[in-house]
Amino acid sequence: MYNFDQMPDRRDTNSIKWDVEKQELPMWIADMDFSVAPEIMQAMQDKIKLGAFGYENVPASYYDAIVNWQEKQHNCQVKKDWILFVNGVIPALSSAVRRVTHPGEQILTLTPVYDIFFHSIENNGRKSLEEELEYNAKTHKYSINWSSLEQKLADPLTKMMILCNPHNPIGKSWTYKEIEKIAQLCHEYHVYLFSDEIHGDLVLDNSFSSTLKLPDNLKQNLIVAFSPSKTFNLAALHSASMVVPNPELRFQIYRAINNDEIAEPNLLAIPATIAAYTQGNAWLKELKKYLLKNRQYIANFLETELNELNLASEFATYLAWIDISSLNINSQQLADFLKENTGLIISSGNVYRGNGTNFIRLNFACPKSVLIDGLERLKKGIDIEKS
Ligand SMILES: Cc1ncc(COP(=O)(O)O)c(C=O)c1O
Repeated sequence: MYNFDQMPDRRDTNSIKWDVEKQELPMWIADMDFSVAPEIMQAMQDKIKLGAFGYENVPASYYDAIVNWQEKQHNCQVKKDWILFVNGVIPALSSAVRRVTHPGEQILTLTPVYDIFFHSIENNGRKSLEEELEYNAKTHKYSINWSSLEQKLADPLTKMMILCNPHNPIGKSWTYKEIEKIAQLCHEYHVYLFSDEIHGDLVLDNSFSSTLKLPDNLKQNLIVAFSPSKTFNLAALHSASMVVPNPELRFQIYRAINNDEIAEPNLLAIPATIAAYTQGNAWLKELKKYLLKNRQYIANFLETELNELNLASEFATYLAWIDISSLNINSQQLADFLKENTGLIISSGNVYRGNGTNFIRLNFACPKSVLIDGLERLKKGIDIEKS
């Protein structure tokens, strides 16, 4: 019913991704080369037609839409008054960091991880404490070293852990057991757990476990953030939500986001978010099927055409995490080389820290024809580099 084989032409439209030279193909930043669902477009057009764009409240229907979405998509019971509107997941994170931790204190992440977390930590004068995920070079899978994680959480200077759930860039959905264990450790050592669930709707084998499924006692130090921006390709909408079950912590977060002036919606945020969460399910279901096929195409391509590279990402997100260690070149050098020689622009893994320097990240949320072009450029570039 929806067409994912065509993409809007975003050159010269202020798109960060498509601000590139004619021969270049951007497959890096996490937004999708698909048109927005018509149901969401309609809601936005209706709003524009009104022609009146004064200051707005967040209406009850916004909270209802989130409660129902969380219940239907993820089987999570969220209470309406746990939800706070905010202008983005990263603004929410930075604001929470400033409110519940102090300069010089440590904030823990599992690396390699979404690089902007480090900005939220370090630009606010906090220390980034990095627990590097263990990587099995044979199975190409990551896991947590629990005793090392516990040691870091037990350090009295550690005040917050940021969990990327599911995890960008390694494309992994943490299991309920893993989430429960992390939450138990955070609870035991009085560490706030900030769970960034922005990719939660985009787990292609539906294996996502939200932290909102945790029992009440493990939700007391929990701050969750998500948004329709990845799911429905609405990053410039600047509409996100935080869920904070503990009322005292919620009040602190409420003060923080208001103090930072990031708690008021722009003119399209509310109608588009409500449309996404109330009418977007059919589009999302088709999108996930399309993405799953693209992911499979990459896996087959690497196996048959580029077998020195390995797909390390699992079924979460539309970002392929590709192990390039056998090439003996660091990821930044390879990214620069590919751009220079083939026009392909991918993310170099070193920015995500941990063992990221042995990986590249490739965004496969695009029509299949574009993906094929990208993979052929990748092969060509690697062939030239090796010759
Ligand atoms: C894990 C993660 N969190 C947050 C964001 C950005 O969120 P926002 O645009 O709502 O600040 C991204 C974007 O790629 C992301 O991958």
